[in-house]
Amino acid sequence: MIPTIEWHGDVVRMIDQRKLPGRIEWFVCRGYRDVIRGIRGMVIRGAPAIGVAAGMGLALAGRGIRARSYKAFKKRFGEIADRMLEARPTAVNLRWAVERMLRLVEEMAGRPVAEIREALRRESEKILAEDIAVNRKMGRFGSKLVPDRSTVLTHCNAGSLATGGYGTALGVIRAACEAGKRVQVIADETRPWLQGLRLTAFELMQDHIPVTVIADNAAGSLMRAGRIDLVITGADRIAANGDVANKIGTYQVALLAKAHKIPFYVAAPVSTIDPRLSTGDEIPVEERSGREISRVGNREMGPPGVRAHNPVFDVTPAKYVAAIITEKGIVRPPYRRAIRVLLKD
Ligand code: MRU
Repeated sequence: MIPTIEWHGDVVRMIDQRKLPGRIEWFVCRGYRDVIRGIRGMVIRGAPAIGVAAGMGLALAGRGIRARSYKAFKKRFGEIADRMLEARPTAVNLRWAVERMLRLVEEMAGRPVAEIREALRRESEKILAEDIAVNRKMGRFGSKLVPDRSTVLTHCNAGSLATGGYGTALGVIRAACEAGKRVQVIADETRPWLQGLRLTAFELMQDHIPVTVIADNAAGSLMRAGRIDLVITGADRIAANGDVANKIGTYQVALLAKAHKIPFYVAAPVSTIDPRLSTGDEIPVEERSGREISRVGNREMGPPGVRAHNPVFDVTPAKYVAAIITEKGIVRPPYRRAIRVLLKD
């Protein structure tokens, strides 16, 4: 699989996911502003990948800050970190990565600026490497929930492209296949950005994992026909009570799964859990331009001037989630207690 994001000499480059699968092009970031533009503009997307990008973006920022004294460096770094936080609001991994970089600067109080710059770059490399390792661990835990000869439905892209590599939901599927299980995937196309059709199908086909894409509104009918055994999705933020924010449409998939007695699983690293939020009602849900709905590609499909509403995430109440798969193990209801224990270890 092509790397989602990497250091390339002194620049950071990310695969331009807006152009996949048709074209494989790098989007080169020479400074933190390019990274913010990349995150906002969906060049890179998926909660863990956004976190990795934010870490690298702040390492680039550190290099660009001209300050000589620690105090001036820290002040400017804090201002840039605030701007990074605003790039996209829902995925908490972004905040997690920014806070980790801020903590590092804090811990290096009084050290020469050149040393801090180097440490920031190393930390961003660590965030990337850890993310891949965490996904592999999650895969090993989660694969136990995937029966041999099963059909898994997934929504959006929670794969290698949404992370540093390997993936969360797709990581679980990959691990099950690596363990010798015969698994096939049904991928919701995931309007309006088509992450399912363009990215999930692309990744799985590269790995020779059988995948079939369906229109988002076909999931219920397939479940009713007994053609789905389980659902696995990723998450952008999980509240302390286990409510899960993920790509718009996830909630209705979870409801359908419940109605058909199909387990609905969420695979996400611990960094996606936000214990500061008591329930999912507090999760900020990003809204993007209505044009992403009314247009397909560059073509306007609706009547001129049509109003379109485009919330890009939704919240699935914990009661519809059969289990949350993390790198520390599988968590089951009641989630508030289980999550507290998980975060303490
Ligand atoms: O708008 P996107 O493409 O960033 O949304 C991505 C998702 O909703 C993913 O399911 C989520 O980030 C988990 S990715 C491992």
